[in-house]
Amino acid sequence: MATMEAVRIGIAGATGYAGQELLRLAARHPCARVTAAMGSAAQSAPRVLPRLARQWSGAVTPLSVETLAREADAAFLALPDADSAELAPELLATGVRVFDLSGAFRLRDADLRRRWYPHTPEAEAIEAVYGAPERDRTRLPSARLIACPGCYPTAAVLALHPLVSADLLAGDIVIDAKSGVSGAGKKPTERTHFSECHGNLAAYAIFAHRHAVEIEQELGVPVTFVPHLVPIDRGILETIYSRLRPGATEDDVAAAYEDAYAHAPFVRLTGAALPEIKHVAHTNFCDIGWRVDATTGRIVIVACIDNLVKGAAGQAIQSFNIAFGFDECAGLA
Ligand SMILES: NC(=O)c1ccc[n+]([C@@H]2O[C@H](COP(=O)([O-])OP(=O)(O)OC[C@H]3O[C@@H](n4cnc5c(N)ncnc54)[C@H](OP(=O)(O)O)[C@@H]3O)[C@@H](O)[C@H]2O)c1
Repeated sequence: MATMEAVRIGIAGATGYAGQELLRLAARHPCARVTAAMGSAAQSAPRVLPRLARQWSGAVTPLSVETLAREADAAFLALPDADSAELAPELLATGVRVFDLSGAFRLRDADLRRRWYPHTPEAEAIEAVYGAPERDRTRLPSARLIACPGCYPTAAVLALHPLVSADLLAGDIVIDAKSGVSGAGKKPTERTHFSECHGNLAAYAIFAHRHAVEIEQELGVPVTFVPHLVPIDRGILETIYSRLRPGATEDDVAAAYEDAYAHAPFVRLTGAALPEIKHVAHTNFCDIGWRVDATTGRIVIVACIDNLVKGAAGQAIQSFNIAFGFDECAGLA
C-alpha cells in the first residue's frame, strides 16, 4: 500500500442516488474518512440522510468548493455533467484528486464532446483518465482527474472488449440494454415517475444516446445501442447480439474472457448460466454469460450490473483504491 493514512474524501452530490451510494461505501472504507458531503446549494441548511442512519452520522451541507478543497484529498463528483464540468477544474487547481461520475470528461474526441457534453470546457487541457479499473489500472495511480465510466458502457464494454480485442467478432454488434429507473437520477420526469413507468416497458433514445458514443470510443468499433427503461428500481441487463468470425469457437470466447478477467475480482464469468439482475443488485459485480450457436456462428452475450454500484459509486471506489494504492476490493467486499 502506498500509504496507511486515511484519505480524506469529499462527496459532491451526496443527496443523489449515486452520491448516497458513494457515501454508504466511503463511510465504511477502511482507508478513507468522509470529511465533507454536499448537496446542491438549493437548500442552505444541513440535511441528514435517514437511509444512512447508523452507517454515516454526518450531515449534508450545501456545496462549497472552498470547503471541498480544504477538507478533502479526493473529491467524488456525483453531479449533473454541467456542474462537474465547472467544478472539476477548480478542484484540480487546488491539488484535490477528482473522481467524476458524470460524463463531462469521458469523451476524448472534441467534436463528440461538444455535441454530447457541451458544458465541458477545454477538456483536452485537463487530461482526464477514463477510469475503467479492469482496463486502465496502470494509468490510475498518476491520474488527477478520473472520468468514471457510464452505467450502460460499463456492462457493454466489460462484455465486449475481450472479444473485440481478440478479433473474435465478425458481425454487427447490437446491444439491447435495459435499465432500472434509478439510472435517470432522483428527479422524476414524465418518463420516469411512478405512474408512467410502473407496468410499462419502453425503448428510448435510439441512435441518440450519448452512451453509444462512449461505448464506441472504448471498443473502437461501431455498435447499435438500444436502451430501454424497465419498471425496477436498480440494475442493468444488456443482451448483446453478434456473429463470430469464421473459424472462431465457443472455446475461443471462453479463453478470451478468462484471459481478460483472470485477475478481475469484480467480474464473474457465468458461461452458459446466464446472469440476472438480482444476482448483482447491491454489489460491485459485473456478471457475464454467453451462448454460441456453432451452426450459425451467432453469439449472444448477457451482462448485468447494479447501475448505482458497479455502474457508478462502486466502480468509482474501485478506481479510488487502485489510484491510491489500496487493495482493489477495500470497502467493496
Ligand atoms: N444514476 C445512475 O445510475 C448513474 C450511474 C452512473 C453515473 N451517473 C452520473 O452520476 C451523476 C449523478 O447521478 P444521480 O443519478 O445520482 O443524480 P441525482 O440522483 O439526480 O442526484 C444529483 C445530485 O447532484 C446535486 N446537484 C444537482 N444540481 C446541482 C448543482 N447545480 N450544484 C451542486 N449540486 C447539484 C443534487 O443535490 P440536491 O439534492 O440538493 O438536489 C444531488 O445530490 C450524473 O452525472 C449521472 O449521469 C449516474
